[in-house]
Amino acid sequence: MRFIKRSAGAVGLLDFPKLVAVRRDAARRARLFTKPDLTYLFWEATLRCNLRCLHCGSSCEARSPVKELETAQVLAIVDSIAEDFDARRIFVSITGGEPLLRPDLYEVVARMTHHGMRSCIVTNGTLLGPEQAAKLFDAGMRTVSVSIDGMEHEHEAVRGRGTWKRSLAGLTNARRAGFRTVEAITCVRPANLHQLEEIERTVRGSGAGLYRLITIDRMGRLANQDGADMWLTPPQVRVLLDHVERRRRELAKAKDRFDVRFSCGGFLGVERELTVRPGDGQCFAGLCVGSILADGQVSACPSLPRSWAQGSALDERFSKIWYGKFKDYRETAWRKTGACSDCSFWEICQGGGLHERLAQPEEFCWLDRQDG
Ligand SMILES: C[S@@+](CC[C@H](N)C(=O)[O-])C[C@H]1O[C@@H](n2cnc3c(N)ncnc32)[C@H](O)[C@@H]1O
Ligand code: SF4
Ligand code: SF4
Repeated sequence: MRFIKRSAGAVGLLDFPKLVAVRRDAARRARLFTKPDLTYLFWEATLRCNLRCLHCGSSCEARSPVKELETAQVLAIVDSIAEDFDARRIFVSITGGEPLLRPDLYEVVARMTHHGMRSCIVTNGTLLGPEQAAKLFDAGMRTVSVSIDGMEHEHEAVRGRGTWKRSLAGLTNARRAGFRTVEAITCVRPANLHQLEEIERTVRGSGAGLYRLITIDRMGRLANQDGADMWLTPPQVRVLLDHVERRRRELAKAKDRFDVRFSCGGFLGVERELTVRPGDGQCFAGLCVGSILADGQVSACPSLPRSWAQGSALDERFSKIWYGKFKDYRETAWRKTGACSDCSFWEICQGGGLHERLAQPEEFCWLDRQDG
């Protein structure tokens, strides 16, 4: 069989309907650069963690490197956001560190729910027992995401011994507590690439209704490291995307509501963009996405370098920072440089995902990452 190298950016006549749909998404995103609209909020609840994952993008340890927000401070920030924005349109993703280490988590979630915000938690699952799941549910949370980084051996190679069964139990406990959306997330690396179908069966059997696949960025503990064990080569990226494309096709054909999707902040090419995920998959940092960091700093996304934070919600209202100080996130000229300066997909992509661009400035373009 002859292997034909396919350029990820190539657009054929048959791709025309996809191009129209991708352009429609891009136009919606482009409008947000001039007219931002906060609908997605990250709360980095803590930088403390009970695990020490080798790939941790937040370099989490037992102690936090910053002075973390106290309960009253978090509640005051949440209240101010509810006063200044339409809280019912805001979805809050609570991440970390390990959010379940905060004893006040339930109180904060209940306050968010009280204001009409919907919320989810991203957790390593090991501390999500039946009691914690029930308390989060009672506080109004309806979505839980648990990180599962492989079958037992591969998961524990990066997350530590004894974590796999406990993380899977986290999915089950969330399902039993009544959560509407129970998601498993895998950071795909060469060691687990061949297991994706097996992991999908396992997380589904444990209660997940959605399976999200992401790749690992060179940030946190992996900053400036080019270890091949965490990074997919272009042929491996194509294997991953082909897999997701095939599973989505199979699930749709079987009218199976289980969902598998790929997630990254960059433009994947006209052919791929809507076959490995639903629409609006690109990076919205600073456009409709804002973040409260563990110490109260306000950024577009917790995955960005801390130096990109634009002020503290302890010193001024979140909304003042959002409306007055986010111009670097909404400025595209600095991104139209290097390979992006004469790229024919500029209008659609606008320079890739922000944190990926900053974490790996030579390797952030998802068309390049598929080619070769
Ligand atoms: C930083 S963790 C915090 C939540 C929780 N402690 C957990 O592990 O799920 C949020 C998500 O980022 C993922 N992640 C960690 N390090 C990463 C990296 N270097 N690149 C991309 N994603 C990463 C985790 O697997 C998890 O799904
Ligand atoms: S990836 Fe999550 S569980 Fe692992 S060390 Fe980082 S914050 Fe903790
Ligand atoms: S070169 Fe830049 S604008 Fe073009 S697809 Fe890649 S990241 Fe996007």
